[in-house]
Amino acid sequence: MQILKTIESLQSALGGAANGTLGFVPTMGNLHAGHLSLVARARADHDLVVVSIFVNPLQFGANEDLDAYPRTLDADSAALIDAGCDVLFLPSAEELYGDDMLQSTRVQVPELGADYCGASRPGHFDGVTTVVAKLFNIVQPDAAYFGLKDYQQFSIIRKMVSDLAMPVALHGVDTVREASGLALSSRNGYLTPEQKSLAPLLYQTIKSIGEAIAAGEQDFKRLTQAGKQQLQEAGFQLDYLAIANAASLRTATKEDSHLVILVAAYLGSTRLIDNLRIFI
Ligand code: PAJ
Repeated sequence: MQILKTIESLQSALGGAANGTLGFVPTMGNLHAGHLSLVARARADHDLVVVSIFVNPLQFGANEDLDAYPRTLDADSAALIDAGCDVLFLPSAEELYGDDMLQSTRVQVPELGADYCGASRPGHFDGVTTVVAKLFNIVQPDAAYFGLKDYQQFSIIRKMVSDLAMPVALHGVDTVREASGLALSSRNGYLTPEQKSLAPLLYQTIKSIGEAIAAGEQDFKRLTQAGKQQLQEAGFQLDYLAIANAASLRTATKEDSHLVILVAAYLGSTRLIDNLRIFI
């Protein structure tokens, strides 16, 4: 596996590569089995696999965990070698944004990014779309792989790719979970043992809402309220719990048949998100 830190070295390495298709997996590192499932998909589908690790300052708010975000490059490189990654792109913030990040061009997907994580993390999704657009321009992949664990992020990137006619095939990959149901996340590492034992309730709650809807329950308001109460009583501080149309992300109505249950909640200062898609 080649590790390349500049746009120029990456592009000359890729330009010199034999013909074939290129699969790309953008990440912020601290890789776990969720990230590696995306790499495995890219590996199965393509001749060349490029993974980027870049903790993107543009998508972190002023009070968020940019400095504390776990950086585990040695373990990440070893895992990527095992997963069959060909090229690890490891740019610095300076390499991607120069010395004046805040003056750089932004890519914004307005409506899909307004609610849920977009409402609680102002500017976050603009940072995500901007860096992903830039990485696509640099890597020029045939296909890119994203986790459905970040369902709103995936929806926004899919809209960006379609609106801007980016020549990249997008793949959304199912969430990898612990046996407890807890979705794997780099932020799980911040949890105390006590919080860790509470955390699976997040998925259990949306799963039981999904089961109730599948069984015919149509009072979405009652379901979300009961779910919120269950999480709050267990010690979560709720950010949002919503049942939405899986395409528009607007609050679901009885007429919708493809739904997504979206949740974000804090345990202490750690923010966890999860979601569940259901077809009725
Ligand atoms: P990061 O949080 O490192 O996640 C990288 C990719 O891994 C994302 O597409 C995410 O949805 C996926 N992922 C995370 N946990 C997963 C799990 N348990 N199962 C399956 N996939 C999972 O998301 C980002 O980085 C950044 O916003 C990025 C897109 C790289 C832009 O900076």
